[in-house]
Amino acid sequence: MRETTVHDCKIITLRNIHRNEGDLTVVESGIDVPFTTKRTYFLHNVPDGASRGDHAHKELKQLVIAIGGIFSVTLDDGKDRKTIRLTSPEEGLLIVPGIWRELYDFFEDAICLVLASELYDEDDYIRDYTEFLNYKL
Ligand code: TYD
Repeated sequence: MRETTVHDCKIITLRNIHRNEGDLTVVESGIDVPFTTKRTYFLHNVPDGASRGDHAHKELKQLVIAIGGIFSVTLDDGKDRKTIRLTSPEEGLLIVPGIWRELYDFFEDAICLVLASELYDEDDYIRDYTEFLNYKL
């Protein structure tokens, strides 16, 4: 996905069912997210000052949710950048393919849940920034 931009990435407000006994937040494939979730993983125990990501994907779509704590995500399409601070488990950040991303400033034992459109495939990664810039030309 060479032609995608950071403007194609957006916050999706998730459906939240509030009760006095607590909140329940739902993400249904094809309804709340524009893909079918084939893989779920989460980042936790991220030490102070650490950053994650630093890569792009060629085809993978992801929804990134701060299910606990707070962290920042910087998105980069080779021309424009935007930074989003995820602070609520009721917000999902949709990251389309072809976007370089960095996740950092993990705060309050943050847990980053990722719903992904494909199974793990190392061939889908671009891990070198210069290679990414060439890919987006
Ligand atoms: P990576 O995607 O580079 O992590 P991050 O972007 O959060 O820094 O993955 C780190 C390692 O984990 C790498 O060796 C690949 C492996 N991995 C899997 O085996 N399966 C997965 O679903 C993911 C996301 C990573």
